Amino acid sequence: MRIFVDTANIDEIRDAAKLGVVSGVTTNPSLMAKEQGKDFQSTIEEIADIVRGPVSAEVVALTAEGMIKEARAIAAWSPYVVVKIPITKAGLQATSVLSREGVKTNLTLCFSPNQALLSALAGATYVSPFVGRLDDAGHDGMQVVAESVAILKSYDFGTQVIAASIRHPLHCVAAAKAGAHIATVPYKVLMQMIEHPLTDVGIQRFVADWEKTGARIP
Ligand code: G3P
Repeated sequence: MRIFVDTANIDEIRDAAKLGVVSGVTTNPSLMAKEQGKDFQSTIEEIADIVRGPVSAEVVALTAEGMIKEARAIAAWSPYVVVKIPITKAGLQATSVLSREGVKTNLTLCFSPNQALLSALAGATYVSPFVGRLDDAGHDGMQVVAESVAILKSYDFGTQVIAASIRHPLHCVAAAKAGAHIATVPYKVLMQMIEHPLTDVGIQRFVADWEKTGARIP
């Protein structure tokens, strides 16, 4: 499973990219709104320059025509751009047109395996089931990831499943076990994935014991 970082914050992306474990970025209008005063296009271009991998940028139009127009404009910003499109009738219409033009798409706000199947049939590059929001509503979000992965694999669709709306490190473990191609994780969760108290304790002990040896690494 690959890891994308789910943020539009440049400092977070720069820091995450240094780890060498992040291969893409996803944004959405709510994440953009947190970056007050930042221009959408230049932010996406800057992110693409840092990560040099897929960067999802979302359309806001609600009609197919509007989505197609916005998607074509967004896709021209960088070869790394993936246009995020909500799964609606208009979204599927737009995706089927855009996929034929070679525009990469990430079908977002996916809450059911049927929506994932339709996204794949429309030619989506990625589909993003929202795990945390399903869990919040009393459903099993990860089951939608697992079922979507199983369906798309059964029929050899090229569409990749991005486990999105990830809220905590255990979601990442579950997404990997469910066969998600990618998990897109908030910066905070990425940092939590690194940490373990026994790692910290272990380092302290090794450092203390090393001091006792009096040895030095040249
Ligand atoms: O990638 C989608 C994600 O940003 C949604 O997360 O936490 O707003 O449900 P959340």
